[in-house]
Amino acid sequence: MDAIRVRGARQLKGNIRVGGAKNAALPILCATLLSDGESLLRNVPGLRDIETTADLLRTLGRDLTVDIPEVRVKQTSRPVVPEAPYELVRQMRASVLVLGPLVARYGKAKVSLPGGCQIGARPVDQHLLGLEALGAKIAVEHGFIVAEAPRLRGAEVVFDMPTVTGTENLMMAAALAKGRTTLVNCAREPEVEELGRVLNKMGARVEGAGTSIIHIQGADELEPFDHAIIADRIEAGTFMAAVGAAGGDVLLEHAPLDDLEPVIVKLRRVGMEIEREGEHARVRRLGRLVATDVATSPHPGFPTDMQAQFMALMCVASGRSVVTETVFENRFMHVPELGRMGARIEAHNNIAIVEGVPRLSGASVMATDLRASASLVIAGLVADDETIVRRVYHLDRGYEAIEKKLAGAGADVTRIKLESEEA
Ligand code: UD1
Repeated sequence: MDAIRVRGARQLKGNIRVGGAKNAALPILCATLLSDGESLLRNVPGLRDIETTADLLRTLGRDLTVDIPEVRVKQTSRPVVPEAPYELVRQMRASVLVLGPLVARYGKAKVSLPGGCQIGARPVDQHLLGLEALGAKIAVEHGFIVAEAPRLRGAEVVFDMPTVTGTENLMMAAALAKGRTTLVNCAREPEVEELGRVLNKMGARVEGAGTSIIHIQGADELEPFDHAIIADRIEAGTFMAAVGAAGGDVLLEHAPLDDLEPVIVKLRRVGMEIEREGEHARVRRLGRLVATDVATSPHPGFPTDMQAQFMALMCVASGRSVVTETVFENRFMHVPELGRMGARIEAHNNIAIVEGVPRLSGASVMATDLRASASLVIAGLVADDETIVRRVYHLDRGYEAIEKKLAGAGADVTRIKLESEEA
């Protein structure tokens, strides 16, 4: 099984290119179900989650040509079977994003209850309540969500909390519903805004995507589209944190600085310099980092998807930092692993208190979820000797060739094969 080996104590220097946003590409791939004809997605990252979504769309009856960074999705002569099996959905929670398009377009959807990163209960009740408000009949049977509606009708949906994929599922469903839908208390993430742009290209009328209230005028039919995906703010933020750990000076190509404002504010506060250079970002560490507190919250707050990477930085900052996770319970699975590398962290429920130490020490550690894995690679960059990060399939879900990108900027990071079953 693959692992990532990191030898620390080398500064990063050079260029790193930021790829397309995973969390934008996934709903946009699912949106292809809303129309016939051929859609073209550009700037798609080469990730396992993209492959899983491609397999899911093929299982449903679409023809996909994946030639990264491009993906073409075509209808086939086979009828669409609106059923998403457990085998695929369990690999990736975002598979639930086919639910809205399938019921809107085909009148029926049967989607296995999701799996994905084990970071808390992560229910989908808001997706289901929303679809019910649009007129779908919903049942949960034998581990599957079954939704049916001859034609969805526009309605008002008020979410109990902002949910990213919940908002996206409802936007896609409403795009083919009869009449006007208003979604209230929506997630405001840039990826939601991006989906709004695509649905508008397809012929729906979406207003307010990226704000907490979205209006959607449904269409009877939607058109295929050609779209280049926005850059991945979390990948960019992860490389910024890598520079914070290793030190150095990196030009992050195509870093979406505007989408990363809450992260950049914190990184500057702890002692990093981040400057716009045309469409790129120059990232430097000025001296030893200083501790600061951080609390995650929905966009435009500090993203939960950057919490683990930021905590890795705080492990080597001077002083004490309090890291509070408010979006997901159980998202501190990196804490014991960072502890094995010499970090001093005490975690209680959703609060971690980190006492910075000058250096970490390399160890064999286990990736437990996507962003936790990235935090261990970052910690490895500032650790003595060698760090082996196991279970890299988590990393491969959301980072395209992270070892090559870091090595291209001078880090000693390689993918190795481990013999043992325990890998
Ligand atoms: C998306 C992102 C993920 C990110 C997360 C939060 C994608 C593919 N994934 O996940 O990377 O970490 O946003 O920024 O875009 N909740 C409910 N009921 C629901 C839906 C959500 O209680 O029906 C809760 C969740 O348990 C969680 C919170 O709402 O506590 C936010 O979750 P949500 O925004 O839905 O996360 P995802 O869309 O799954």
